[in-house]
Amino acid sequence: MTQITIRRPDDFHLHLRDGARMRDALGFSARVFGRAMIMPNLRPPVTRLGEALEYRKRILEALPEASNFAPLMSLYLRDETSVEDIREASESGVVMAAKLYPAGATTNSSSGVTEIGKMGPVFEEMSECRMPLMVHAEVTDQEVDIFERERVFIETILAPLVEEYPALKVVLEHASTADAIAFVRQARPGVAATITIHHMLLSRNDILVGGLKPHHYCLPVVKTERDRRAIVEAATSGDTRFFAGTDSAPHPRSAKECSGAAAGIFSAPVAVPLYAQLFEQAGALDRLEAFLSLNGAAFYGLPPNEEMIVLEKFPLEVPVDLPFGDERVVPLWAGREVQWRLRAI
Ligand code: NCD
Ligand code: ZN
Repeated sequence: MTQITIRRPDDFHLHLRDGARMRDALGFSARVFGRAMIMPNLRPPVTRLGEALEYRKRILEALPEASNFAPLMSLYLRDETSVEDIREASESGVVMAAKLYPAGATTNSSSGVTEIGKMGPVFEEMSECRMPLMVHAEVTDQEVDIFERERVFIETILAPLVEEYPALKVVLEHASTADAIAFVRQARPGVAATITIHHMLLSRNDILVGGLKPHHYCLPVVKTERDRRAIVEAATSGDTRFFAGTDSAPHPRSAKECSGAAAGIFSAPVAVPLYAQLFEQAGALDRLEAFLSLNGAAFYGLPPNEEMIVLEKFPLEVPVDLPFGDERVVPLWAGREVQWRLRAI
């Protein structure tokens, strides 16, 4: 097959940043995705409806002309988040989900939730409103090895939470282990996972072998080859509980190529072509549309995008870096070839 026509995809996990950096990053997503779930981990974070409305306005103003891209907004849960915050956000029709970051788990998560056990009223309200909870599923305990943090979170926090709030819709974000895949497969209805392109493409060898590769460092960190294969298998299986969320998270080159490199991989410019490439390798191009364009929308109760896009087999070299405010950002697969591209319409 040398070309494939699918409904316009959605990205259910995207970091857009703000200001000039956002303007530079946004075009890559808006070109190919119809909608994206915008992560709220700005500094300070987007915690209430008013902030989400303002951020959405800045995104819409930064969009390329004639773009139909629709940002779906999310709230950042904190210890202080109230039932009213959730209700007001849900009634707006603009905020589609709330994100649970255990405090300290990742970039800009210092004001995340410190005691998940105290969030009961918020989770009850979200269940009532049918507002999905997006979960960064990693414990932050110093004693827990970073490669075990997702599994331990699932066992000690997520599995009990899913049972305690049986009507709460839950998305395990950026599944990075075979354990996460197995958990979602056996979970009750209303539990799903997003899958990034980098967790399908990379294992920890790609960070640690042949020189340290900070541009492959993200959270949750990419894991073993066995985990990678389980993730590819889930994404390409046709199972509707798995859908695309790129977790594209740009950082300037200076914040990646230094001591204490920031976590985050800027995949937006190459995500859809690379997803296509991996689905092709798995012999599953016929399931690409469900994964990119149907399953996530169905989970969130949204109709699929009406427009179609055409992907064609056409090798292109990925730029070594791209403008990012007054700095540069290195995209995923920089300087390497991708086998598919979006046909210009
Ligand atoms: C994200 C970021 O940079 O905002 N980084 C990452 O490695 N994924 C934060 C996050 O989603 O964990
Ligand atoms: Zn993220």
